Amino acid sequence: MKNKTELFKNKIALAPMATGGNLPYRRLCRHFGAQLTCSEMILAHKVVKGSKREDVLLRKGDDEYPYGVQLAGKKPDVMAEAARIVADSGCDYIDLNFGCPIDLIVRKGSGAAVLKSVTKLGRIVEAVREAVDLPILVKLRTGYHRDKINIEKTAVVAEENGADCLSIHGRTREQRYRKDADWSLIARAAELVNIPVLGNGDIFTVWDYQAKLSCGVSGVVLARGALIKPWVFQELITGEPWYPSVEERWQVMAKYFEYAKEYFGDDEKGMERVKRFFIWHLGFWNRYRPYTEDDYNSAEGSLLQMRAEEITGDPELELLASEDPDDFEVIWDRITQ
Ligand SMILES: Cc1cc2nc3c(=O)[nH]c(=O)nc-3n(C[C@H](O)[C@H](O)[C@H](O)COP(=O)(O)O)c2cc1C
Repeated sequence: MKNKTELFKNKIALAPMATGGNLPYRRLCRHFGAQLTCSEMILAHKVVKGSKREDVLLRKGDDEYPYGVQLAGKKPDVMAEAARIVADSGCDYIDLNFGCPIDLIVRKGSGAAVLKSVTKLGRIVEAVREAVDLPILVKLRTGYHRDKINIEKTAVVAEENGADCLSIHGRTREQRYRKDADWSLIARAAELVNIPVLGNGDIFTVWDYQAKLSCGVSGVVLARGALIKPWVFQELITGEPWYPSVEERWQVMAKYFEYAKEYFGDDEKGMERVKRFFIWHLGFWNRYRPYTEDDYNSAEGSLLQMRAEEITGDPELELLASEDPDDFEVIWDRITQ
């Protein structure tokens, strides 16, 4: 493949997400305009072992292009072997996860733990580069800890060793979701490299997007914004906020339900999965609030970091905003009627 960076330029991407990045949800986000999608995180050593679960995670939708598979691991040879296997599965790019903050992963030296050694990070990227001809996206955080911000180094080393794109989440591992993402650090890294940089962190509205694009990134990546309102992609593309009516929100949920049924099947076992995922998504959809430009301008920080305002007065809106598991069941019953 010749110019591997082209695939990533000017993209509005759906972030790699465990559970949230299930195939039917990716399809829903594509429907609303997501331009680049990725698998859930896959552990490289499990791919090499031939684990069945990882096979399921590799599946892509019929029209899903470009589609990446995300690998996490710490050993260059295992990451390279996994990348070879994954490339044969028919994905369009490989995403290397150096951002996962989960204790279980980090304790084993994978995910964000790799950020602690720039040399190791370089070796992994180099090994994968030698193993496959597919474009490689490297996912980074600004550093492991606020006292060890090293995004300027990791960005340059990733590029030198063969990365075709960087996706940078503007937080450290230790920060988790506390405080806003630091886009000034993303901007600094973008200045230092010649490959496209996709900025990631706290994009939820057209106004977030417009402000963040001016940081000099080529494109953006959305996770929680896309989980709360899958139509956010349409908003960013058109530059216009969309405030769906209650009925339209039901239609969006029904669309996910149909996609999930198609994918998991509508027999008993399939429907159990559909329900599990549907209920999981309700835990994000209920955070939707129709924020305006004034709300955006008057918020102290990111709207995503704010506790959603309480909704009272309209029983239908209250139901959609509810965090009560019993109400989730009510919504599920209505969707399946
Ligand atoms: C439910 C959930 C699952 C996630 N799983 C992954 C993952 O498997 N791999 C990964 O690189 N990042 C994962 N992330 C992190 C996101 O990709 C993203 O970097 C982070 O949420 C910041 O973006 P946001 O501010 O748009 O949410 C996950 C985030 C969420 C909310």
